[in-house]
Amino acid sequence: MDIKCSEKELFIFNKIARAAESLGLETYLIGGFVRDKLLGRETKDADIVCVGDAIALATEVAGHFLPRPTVSYFKNFGTAHIRVDDGFDIEFVGARKESYHYHSRNPDVVPGTLEDDQLRRDFSINALAISLNIKDYGRLIDPFNGREDLSAKMIRTPLDPLQTFSDDPLRMMRAIRFATQLDFSIHPVTLQAIKQDINRIKIISQERITDELNKILAAPKPSIGFDLLYQCGLLHIIFPQMVDLEGAEYKDGVGHKDNFYHTLQVVDNLAARSEDIWLRWAAVLHDIGKPATKRFEEGHGWTFHGHEVVGGRMVPGIFARLKLPLNEKMRFVRKMVELHLRPISLTKENITDSAIRRLLYDAGGDYESLMQLCEADITSKNKWKVKRFLDNFRMVRQRCAEVEENDRIRNWQPPITGEMIMQTFGIKPSRPVGEIKNAIRDAILDGHIPNTYDAAYAFMLEKAKEFKLEPVI
Ligand code: CTP
Repeated sequence: MDIKCSEKELFIFNKIARAAESLGLETYLIGGFVRDKLLGRETKDADIVCVGDAIALATEVAGHFLPRPTVSYFKNFGTAHIRVDDGFDIEFVGARKESYHYHSRNPDVVPGTLEDDQLRRDFSINALAISLNIKDYGRLIDPFNGREDLSAKMIRTPLDPLQTFSDDPLRMMRAIRFATQLDFSIHPVTLQAIKQDINRIKIISQERITDELNKILAAPKPSIGFDLLYQCGLLHIIFPQMVDLEGAEYKDGVGHKDNFYHTLQVVDNLAARSEDIWLRWAAVLHDIGKPATKRFEEGHGWTFHGHEVVGGRMVPGIFARLKLPLNEKMRFVRKMVELHLRPISLTKENITDSAIRRLLYDAGGDYESLMQLCEADITSKNKWKVKRFLDNFRMVRQRCAEVEENDRIRNWQPPITGEMIMQTFGIKPSRPVGEIKNAIRDAILDGHIPNTYDAAYAFMLEKAKEFKLEPVI
């Protein structure tokens, strides 16, 4: 074999080769599996292309395994899938020539040769094939110099890029995604075609676009992809709020930093600390409220007061537009955006126990994530400044650890709930319930009363007098 496979993979490919031989079908390994093997990357699933009926091949291959795996297939597309050996996925497709209609994603599919099939694939590095045929088993078939492009770290289309992107405009995002994941460059002609064709991304479903965005964000250095998306103009179409962060304005000789590139750096810093994709989204969005809150104040320079609140409010709309989940993941991202200035404000002055308790209470179980985001938010080029901030954060962390040790705030709930307040005063959900509840919480967090039921109950009775409420039980 021209690629290095494990014993288990060789065992599986052997069975596929025997099944193909018995049906008299020319068969090849193709796509990401071959590419990743040549790069020495981990592989998870394999694509098989055969010249002929892929569903028949998958069915024959399934018969070579015990227990026999289920064959799932799409008759219309002529594709099939089986899962063997506890989780190794194999996709089968018949070699084809394809031509897409300009305004839709429905291809005219006509059976073709291996070379036709390779030619219609997205990039030279994804068109590499390995023969599974007796006559040249294991030989690499590389008509578009994909191997050279792998060594040159280059993304390039096998056809004229305008044709390749016209066949499936999502490939523009795929080019950028592979460049980001693999740390490759996009060939200038291919990149130029993306710039020329950006508007065609509009025919692609948001789910497919966001899938690529998530893959870019999950890469070791997501800034590569976001910068490419920005440079070629795709970001302006798919995520305009992020583009609004661009630029550094000057007035009276006073400038502010370019918040787009600052954000990219924060995302990279965070990616070096955490794999959590939702925390990475929080990094992307942490300053998203800055354009809307930007002011120039005489004597102060540029300010972005309240950008964390405005940014937090923008999160649900952005998630909805990108078709990201509108569930606790979104609420987590919103919370991180809203809280991202809190730890830094604690490093400025004398830190009181009550300020620390409030931070622990508001961050709750997400305290560690918040601290990681804040540490990633330090992007100064002045290394003394960076050191000072990091030292301050270490101090905040230490104080938080001490206060948490004593007060156990992170998973704490006040001893009196809204339900208890309603029962005590015989009232329905209303403003006084919320105000009394918050007042009890604040009194405990600020250390005015001890964290006990009795103290909280006595405080509740006092506070309730402001609303002319008397206990009924
Ligand atoms: N392909 C393509 N055009 C697309 C999608 C896929 O030409 N829009 C081809 C490529 O040859 C690709 C193969 O189909 O290698 C499999 O696609 P996919 O599973 O999406 O990508 P992989 O290359 O396997 O990479 P990954 O699993 O990392 O997404």
